[in-house]
Amino acid sequence: MFVVACFLIVYAGSSIGSRVSEYSPRDPLKDYKLALLGDPYMTSVAKCYQKICLNITAKPFFTKETQTWQDVGMRDAKLFSAFAERRSSADGPSVRVIANGLQEEFNHIGDLYCQMWYENGGYPAVVRAKYVRIYPSYDHHDEWVAHFVLCPMAGSFNHNYVQDFPFAVSVTPTPCSKASNALMVLNIHARKNTNTHALCLPPLYNYFRNWTMLVEMFELHKLMGAQGIYIYTQTVSKDTASVLRYYATERVTTITWNFPNLKAFQFSQRAALNDCLYRAGHLHRYVTVSDVDEVLVPRAASTWPELMRKIASPRYGAYLFQHVYFRRNNTGERPYLITHQSKWRTDKPQPPGKIRCKAMYDSENAISIDIHFPYELVYPAREYLLPAKIGLLHHYRATPTESFAKDPQRYQYVEDDYMLLYQENLTMRYINALSRIRGVHGRKPSG
Ligand SMILES: *[C@@H]1O[C@H](CO)[C@@H](O)[C@H](O)[C@H]1NC(C)=O
Ligand SMILES: *[C@@H]1O[C@H](CO)[C@@H](O)[C@H](O)[C@H]1NC(C)=O
Ligand SMILES: *[C@@H]1O[C@H](CO)[C@@H](O)[C@H](O)[C@H]1NC(C)=O
Ligand SMILES: *[C@@H]1O[C@H](CO)[C@@H](O)[C@H](O)[C@H]1NC(C)=O
Repeated sequence: MFVVACFLIVYAGSSIGSRVSEYSPRDPLKDYKLALLGDPYMTSVAKCYQKICLNITAKPFFTKETQTWQDVGMRDAKLFSAFAERRSSADGPSVRVIANGLQEEFNHIGDLYCQMWYENGGYPAVVRAKYVRIYPSYDHHDEWVAHFVLCPMAGSFNHNYVQDFPFAVSVTPTPCSKASNALMVLNIHARKNTNTHALCLPPLYNYFRNWTMLVEMFELHKLMGAQGIYIYTQTVSKDTASVLRYYATERVTTITWNFPNLKAFQFSQRAALNDCLYRAGHLHRYVTVSDVDEVLVPRAASTWPELMRKIASPRYGAYLFQHVYFRRNNTGERPYLITHQSKWRTDKPQPPGKIRCKAMYDSENAISIDIHFPYELVYPAREYLLPAKIGLLHHYRATPTESFAKDPQRYQYVEDDYMLLYQENLTMRYINALSRIRGVHGRKPSG
């Protein structure tokens, strides 16, 4: 079996499984194509590797994932997490690493290899990695952007066997370099077949302190049907941290992000969102990606599951909710719930279409996602732009966007009290949550 031959080198660019029989490598470390188990030539190459590779890092040991950004020595790439990818329609079977790095189009990155470690093997299997950019930053060639590092599986892969996925992977500049990183491979067990919903929120930064807003958003989303909420932390205030600790047992998973100090957009928000797609998508059919001042509001039903029962179809990979801007207001009533006291919104989606929308993904059909919409869906799944009466993205901005501030006369506002649908239940949940947070932490966070 695969694990027996430790050093299996596979050229990622060619189709896995189709055997390349005629080739004469000049330098076995560089010039290989595709090797499958049993290939007599590769057996000798494997021996050569074995000599070199015997000296590499000791087998990693984990009790849980590291959740830190790790370096790839000699390469401008950093790694955060690794997920088993089963879908042959989505570069699988492979291990999909969430990474961030310079863009190959504008920078010389150099080769990357994956050393894949198996529970019952003493040495890793090595494959050439694919370095796949998620988000292009054409205006800033020196910007670090979200990437996948794909480590293709080889040999007689049978996705029913957990053992066929390595438990750990390291990414290295040469096949046998001593690795400076080790990632626990997540999602090794087969994905659950569910109809549940998860919410993904991007990294909180700038010592985020609006913890009451978080409580409102967590409770509102649970009310609307989110079974799991995932949120990332760059920097948060002490009070926010204690609120997140309280919610750890209330279906809210906090991922320590701490993105390194590099030139990157919003602490590589896109890497976090794609991490979340795989992390949450393994447990939940639907993964919704928005922000802490936004809600994807089902307008043809009162909850997400109810809405999906009405509109879901296997033809769709992403359900796009168009953006309406709500002026944030505080009427002085208590408790202060932003979504109840801010009622004036643009009369229609602004801008209309997908530009500013946010999306709910069918996680089985999504491969890579942007902040607002998908980059890549599993063929032939497509996007569905929801009409305003089916669903809307409510955006409760503290300050209007530039164009709203500049040309207020271009926009018509209407009073919209749809959110009062949740008033009774949300108020109750919010007050209860606040009193439990106070109970757990001895005092209410001071805000
Ligand atoms: C193995 O690694 C050690 C320490 O990194 C080094 O001193 C030694 O030369 C290496 N041996 C071989 C055969 O590469
Ligand atoms: C967070 O709260 C502070 C005051 O506590 C306020 O100045 C700020 O605008 C709020 N930020 C957001 C995003 O709501
Ligand atoms: C805020 O609410 C008050 C009371 O309902 C209302 O008079 C005012 O117009 C609202 N302001 C905004 C900016 O929506
Ligand atoms: C509010 O809670 C009640 C009781 O649990 C439930 O029957 C009702 O559907 C909820 N309403 C909304 C809008 O979630």
